[in-house]
Amino acid sequence: MKLWGGRFSGKVGLDSAANSFHSSIMFDQRLYKYDIIGSIAHAEMLGKQGIISAGDSLAIVEGLRGILADIESRTLEITPDSEDIHSFVEAELISRIGDAGRRLHTGRSRNDQVALDMRMYVREEIGEVKRLVSDLLGVILDLSKSHTKTIMPGFTHLQKAQPLTLAHHLMCYFQMFKRDYRRLNNCFDSADEMPLGSGALAATTYPLNRDYVRENLDFSRLTENSLDGVSDRDFCIEFIFVLSLIMLHLSRFCEELILWASEDFGFVEMSDAYSTGSSIMPQKKNPDMAELIRGKTGRVYGSLVALLTTMKSLPLAYNKDMQEDKEATFDAVDTVKSCLGVFVGMISTAKFNVVNMRKSAKGGYTNATDAADWLVKKGVAFREAHEISGKLVLLAIDKGVCLDELSLDDFKRVSEAFDESVYAAISLEECVNSRSIIGAPAESAVLEAIKSAEAFLQFTASGDSSNL
Ligand code: ARG
Repeated sequence: MKLWGGRFSGKVGLDSAANSFHSSIMFDQRLYKYDIIGSIAHAEMLGKQGIISAGDSLAIVEGLRGILADIESRTLEITPDSEDIHSFVEAELISRIGDAGRRLHTGRSRNDQVALDMRMYVREEIGEVKRLVSDLLGVILDLSKSHTKTIMPGFTHLQKAQPLTLAHHLMCYFQMFKRDYRRLNNCFDSADEMPLGSGALAATTYPLNRDYVRENLDFSRLTENSLDGVSDRDFCIEFIFVLSLIMLHLSRFCEELILWASEDFGFVEMSDAYSTGSSIMPQKKNPDMAELIRGKTGRVYGSLVALLTTMKSLPLAYNKDMQEDKEATFDAVDTVKSCLGVFVGMISTAKFNVVNMRKSAKGGYTNATDAADWLVKKGVAFREAHEISGKLVLLAIDKGVCLDELSLDDFKRVSEAFDESVYAAISLEECVNSRSIIGAPAESAVLEAIKSAEAFLQFTASGDSSNL
């Protein structure tokens, strides 16, 4: 059934390619629940306001409840012959309850209806993604707790830089995903406005009670301009932007795991449950899941750029271009949810090789800064101490040893200021644990960071976002 036949002569029907081109039912059918619940609220309100009769309102509400139940139980199949989910539900209602069904759309347009459906969908999916992000935060926290003493090299430019612990490294990811969690809350706030009453663009002459519908559907606010109510898709873009950042963070994590799983690093081994082999090279065990998550980042960015570009320069108010919001948003949501799910399984079953990490931290002169700092504490100016420590590194490279394997004579040859106590100061443990200010890698500081992370997770679990 078409919702708009009257103005057309009926001499030619819609071209069949044009019909399938513009129809959105194949993808917007996933909005059925929001569409029906939104329509129930609208119909109840129409009845209460006396815009339609109480009897019609009741018949519509019951009819819609029946449709929802039948879709959920799969007794009613959403067929592709309707233009979109809104037309499908309305046609089904009319076929079930007859004339009363024709009154449902009073004071409403598909333009404000689809805006409502998308807002309801986005709000619910934000909740799902928040749950997955908080699972990930929990796994990162557990892993960090068991690795506060696991020394590994920290890198800059992918060159060994200074030693730190695996816990400190992992807790960096905790911070990233914590920010994403907060962003999801902000994004919920943007989506949390009820647009019904905007009509096609210029609201309506009927005395709708918008606030009744708002409260019924548990929205915090009403949209405040009817043009904006139907033409705003910022909340979708904001959501896909946050999803893009989640992917960015996952991709950095995956990239590191891929590097670390290589024989040359040997820092981690993925579980067989998250690895695959080669069809030709019998020895291979590849971190495919991590690579695929890294790869899917591009796809989510694609959705973000697609929707930004679709919305760019659109004149007010609704334009059909905006139907493109759906596949972009749906695909980004599906992709991120599956990536988060697989990532949590992969990281929680990975085995970190603490021996290799420590061995690696010992190489690369990661304690050279500490040798310089030792001199500074003896009164040498930092710039001079830097020069001296550099010379020590050169000498050690020449001898093929680590700094702490140089003899005291060697040290003294580079600078008379050195004495025996330098050895303790440049041990890996000391390098890590003397960096103990807030936010630093020392075990004491990381334990504090873990405490604050635990408090954050408790808030997320309690559903109280006021303190996040
Ligand atoms: N399928 C449309 C969309 O997703 C629904 C709104 C249609 N409105 C219209 N005036 N053609 O945007």
